[in-house]
Amino acid sequence: MIQIKKIKKLIVGNWKMNPSSLSEAKKIALEIKKTMKNMTKTGIKTVRKTQVVICPPFVYLGSVGGMKTTSFFLGAQDAFYESMGAYTGEVSYCSLPQFGVSHVILGHSERRAKGETNEIINKKVRSVVGEGMTAIVCVGESVRDTEGIYLHILRSQIVAALYEVNKKLLDHVVIAYEPIWAIGAKVAMNSRDVHEISIYIKKVLREMYGPLGDSVRILYGGSVDSTNAREIVYEGNVGGLLVGRASLVPKDFSLIVREIDTEDCIEK
Ligand code: PGA
Repeated sequence: MIQIKKIKKLIVGNWKMNPSSLSEAKKIALEIKKTMKNMTKTGIKTVRKTQVVICPPFVYLGSVGGMKTTSFFLGAQDAFYESMGAYTGEVSYCSLPQFGVSHVILGHSERRAKGETNEIINKKVRSVVGEGMTAIVCVGESVRDTEGIYLHILRSQIVAALYEVNKKLLDHVVIAYEPIWAIGAKVAMNSRDVHEISIYIKKVLREMYGPLGDSVRILYGGSVDSTNAREIVYEGNVGGLLVGRASLVPKDFSLIVREIDTEDCIEK
């Protein structure tokens, strides 16, 4: 018998290294907070069906976390795997929960491009989930070849990132599929291809963890906006979205949430 379980969709806003001032960061966060609140009040059944996470740069986490809102969860864009010590410039995973951080993006392609290896990402994933936070693990190929090598790349990134991650902690793991060629681009990947990849990632997770692998949410990221969000999620059959540019524009970001939140969040 197929088990039907209700899982909330997850929409993550990755602010990257933006904005350049604290006042602007507060303004964006406040605006998002307001629009989310309004949606819950006036909407049909709205926002409660969707979890929203915003990930500002480290330096703004204290201020945005200080808003103590239920409109969104707070995420970091990275975390170092050692709890403390002589690691100039790094930010310990242990230091994040006190600011209200519940999610951490790990292995984003922009960090991989700066030399972050699968092994480092795995250490970070284990530290973050061990601390009770959710790791949003980014994977994705730089090009799509015709021989299917990109699938092997994806598989090896997932297998390496989750090496020795206990199955009991799987509900603290999210896989964000972000094809590098679609990040910061003009168009997103089409929903049929997103669907294919989501099936493939589910298969890899099942091979690793059996049926428990199904509890890992899969997100899509790369040029998501309010015009393509709905199709990507519901035809691409993913558990949510990782949004870059559009997450810095409160109106656009709220529209994306609204688009996703109207459907019944049922996944098989
Ligand atoms: P984008 O970025 O939405 O601006 O393409 C996505 C990401 O890098 O996470």
